[in-house]
Amino acid sequence: LENGSWSGVRVLVSAGPTYEPIDPVRFLGNRSSGKMGYALAAASAARGAHVTLISGPTSLPPPPGVDVRRIETAEDLANSMSKMFPEHDICFMAAAVSDYRPDRPHPSKKKKDGTSWTLSLLENPDILASLSRQKSPGQFLVGFAAESEMNPEKLLEKLRKKGADMLLANDISRPDIGFSSDENEMTLFSPDGTSLPLGKHSKTVLSNKILDEIEKVWRRPAAS
Ligand code: PMT
Repeated sequence: LENGSWSGVRVLVSAGPTYEPIDPVRFLGNRSSGKMGYALAAASAARGAHVTLISGPTSLPPPPGVDVRRIETAEDLANSMSKMFPEHDICFMAAAVSDYRPDRPHPSKKKKDGTSWTLSLLENPDILASLSRQKSPGQFLVGFAAESEMNPEKLLEKLRKKGADMLLANDISRPDIGFSSDENEMTLFSPDGTSLPLGKHSKTVLSNKILDEIEKVWRRPAAS
């Protein structure tokens, strides 16, 4: 595909982990490096799209030509995504959102007192599911699934439950793909029940394969 083919398309990407504070210096996080979301943002920008990247804490340099905004918690991410979503055509929810947050973060650095410390966790809202309820005609919502076992039926159920237009599943039980690695192997699930293995590639090559698949199914709204 020639560069510039996504000119005028507005792409919103979430990437990286979320950090859920336990106290001012400690958090609950996960092993997402942000590489997958950053690669999608870079590949979209290389095709001429206008790209906004909402990033959790990562050590990655901002991709060239991408508007990067930083967040820490799932709640921050939920607020940013729901605010930015209406101004975008395609949204990739590649962030590894923490499903739980500490109920009441300790207001100061918790000191040892010779006893154990029990954390109580609350469930975080599902950002992807709420974006799908916010979706307008012509918008295309892409979800990801971090799975420790690839069960096609469960993945199709996840796709439908979350209301995504496409779901990309990766097996996170393997050390060579998924979290933090430079490569990934993904299977693409569609709402019509079909699945397509995209193979094992660098996150950049996979991102371009994903964009190619979106080009086949996404109906661009008439020029506005
Ligand atoms: O960042 P890397 O190191 O490159 O690793 C890439 C990755 C493995 C993190 C990425 O490819 C990936 O799979 N991202 C999604 C991880 C995830 O949170 O999967 P899930 O199965 O728990 O969630 C399913 C979908 O719902 C995801 O699109 C997720 O962003 C979204 N979600 C989840 C929980 C929540 N509270 N709100 C959400 O929107």
